Amino acid sequence: MKIYSALLAAASCLLLTGCNKPQAAATAAAAPPYKPVATLEEVMHGMVIPNAEVVWDAVGYVSTVKGSTEIKPASEDDWIKIEASAITLTEAGNLLMMSGRAKDNAKWMERCRALVDAGSSVLKAAKARNPEELFTRGGDLFDACQECHFQYRFTTKDPGTFRSH
Ligand code: HEC
Repeated sequence: MKIYSALLAAASCLLLTGCNKPQAAATAAAAPPYKPVATLEEVMHGMVIPNAEVVWDAVGYVSTVKGSTEIKPASEDDWIKIEASAITLTEAGNLLMMSGRAKDNAKWMERCRALVDAGSSVLKAAKARNPEELFTRGGDLFDACQECHFQYRFTTKDPGTFRSH
């Protein structure tokens, strides 16, 4: 069966001739087909911030003089919105890794990866319809934002006040 499919592949190579173009493949690898359009700030404002707010606003406690009220998703629709936001946050982490946006090839990638991981854990909590877990994972999400900001945002914008080391 294996030999048969190898022969079949070889035969279609002969027919299509296109498989004998290593140079084209190398060029494709050097220049990825995607094109980063939004600036970092636009990715923050257009994708990251609004969706993080959906997650953070979904669970918690509000204390007033009249006492404390618990906030948690009330309907299936609420949960589906949180899932969608978690998916966007997760994939935003990948988008931030794109060359053209990445600030370096090492620590920056780790910080983006932390956003991917935090976003995925929020998604998992939302899929499990677990408000307590969602609250905890929302905290991890916040940490993922801040870790990157301490390394790459505050250092460039306000070195005096916010430098973390
Ligand atoms: C991988 C790094 C990284 C991660 C993760 C990250 N950010 Fe950012 N963020 C930046 C950088 C860099 C800037 C500064 C962009 C600029 O001014 O060009 C920024 C800017 C911002 C700003 C200020 C935008 C402005 O108008 O100046 C906010 C608010 C923000 N991020 C929110 C978030 C939130 C919320 C999260 C997490 C859910 C997050 N960021 C995750 C790197 C990151």
